[in-house]
Amino acid sequence: MIELSHTEPAYKPIPKDVRYHPLGHIIDFKKDVLASMRQMAQKHPELVQLRVGPKRLIMVQHPELVREVLVKRAAEFPKAAPFRGTLSKALGNGLVPSDGKFHAGQRKMMQSLFHHKRMEAYSRVMTTYTADLLKEWERNPNRDLHNDMMRLTMFIVSKTLFNADKRTMAKDAQRAADAIANNQIWIEKEFWLGFKMPDWVPTRGNRQFKKNNQTLQEILMPIIEQRMRTNIDHGDLLTTLINARNDAGRPMPKQQIFDEVNNLFSAGHETTANTLIWTFYLLGQNRHVAQKLTNEIDQVLQGRRPTMADLDQLPYAAMVLKESMRLFPAVWSLAYREVQRDTTVGDYRFPKGSWIVISPYALHRQESYFPNPEAFKPERFHPTRAGNIPRYAYLPFGAGPRVCIGAQFAMIEAQLILIQLLQTFNFEIVPGQSIIPRPLITISPENGLNIKVTRRSQ
Ligand code: HEM
Repeated sequence: MIELSHTEPAYKPIPKDVRYHPLGHIIDFKKDVLASMRQMAQKHPELVQLRVGPKRLIMVQHPELVREVLVKRAAEFPKAAPFRGTLSKALGNGLVPSDGKFHAGQRKMMQSLFHHKRMEAYSRVMTTYTADLLKEWERNPNRDLHNDMMRLTMFIVSKTLFNADKRTMAKDAQRAADAIANNQIWIEKEFWLGFKMPDWVPTRGNRQFKKNNQTLQEILMPIIEQRMRTNIDHGDLLTTLINARNDAGRPMPKQQIFDEVNNLFSAGHETTANTLIWTFYLLGQNRHVAQKLTNEIDQVLQGRRPTMADLDQLPYAAMVLKESMRLFPAVWSLAYREVQRDTTVGDYRFPKGSWIVISPYALHRQESYFPNPEAFKPERFHPTRAGNIPRYAYLPFGAGPRVCIGAQFAMIEAQLILIQLLQTFNFEIVPGQSIIPRPLITISPENGLNIKVTRRSQ
């Protein structure tokens, strides 16, 4: 028993989940990180201390503690340096890995691209490109949904943010998707090392990062260079980046422009694609929900193409997507914030050097906030009931100064795509597939999702 002098504050100890193996929880995580985090969260609903190799990891669960870390005191808990180092092998010094004042400045500059008033124009691209996909569904009813959603969301983000049309992107879509997917695999692999492998060491991972980066440069750089040459103002991301000047009046270096484009390109399509794939999966398992959704769509739209203005009249579509992102939040783990100095969070002492992890996947399955958590129930998000969910218990887009910059874009996009597809087609999940969630940076069904579509009679 430790005697506390009257000047020493009485902190609550962080509950520990002890592993005696030198690798600590890595073994559990390697086996099944989702199940393992879920169990930890159930056993320790506020927070728990784990160990990843020599590293102390604090898994924070309680919504008030989440708010302290991500929102109120976010500057005290930046993304951990080795983790940012590994991220930057794939994403350079773009918005996702960058930090501090530089991050804040870049983010402020790019924020205007996601202003509500721009969404109207973006939404027209979304519905036009989805209409093109409907034609493909007409021609071939056997669909690899992973492929369809990845291509569609990639075309949308490219057209809306840097005016690269579908024809330009189509020839490279597969290479780009492969490079991004491969980067995720190597980020995950390197993370388990617990430190950033220096770039100059010719490991297999470093060679892969280099190759993927080269592929993305080959695809995106010509678009950037052409715009720099012509300097036509499309009022999009590229125009914003090219016209930006720092305090000394200097333009942004070309490599930084590439990094920002690459960050939005990489972060801005696969997340939405996976959200849609999981939504189809859940609707396939819950036909009564799919039926209720199509009833709403038919009633409101009477067969016409949806617009952004219609979304207010289609609340069930938003509820379905929110519930899908509860069960399968594309970014299943908000990794890894570093404790910079000994401090207290809530009543707990957080030692300097610890890493903090917050897992939306585990948090979203906590019985106390989401009764019967495994059940797919969009009604949880009915406007009259959603108030029962504590603000920081539901984090599909993160929170605070690093909240997803594309959250509104993604919600509008996912709603419009879902509505338009279900308005025209019924679908069934091809039987006999094993649907296994694969948690890399994003969570996707390991073997994709095959569906068969049939045109609905209106
Ligand atoms: C359903 C789709 C999406 C989901 C679930 C999602 C989720 C998230 C989450 C959870 C974060 C915060 C990560 C953290 O705090 O560690 C984030 C950050 C980010 N997202 Fe999204 N996202 C989606 C769509 C998009 C789109 C469409 C774009 C851009 C067009 C985008 C661009 C970004 C960027 C650039 C960041 C980093 C922001 C920063 O650190 O300042 N995301 N996203």
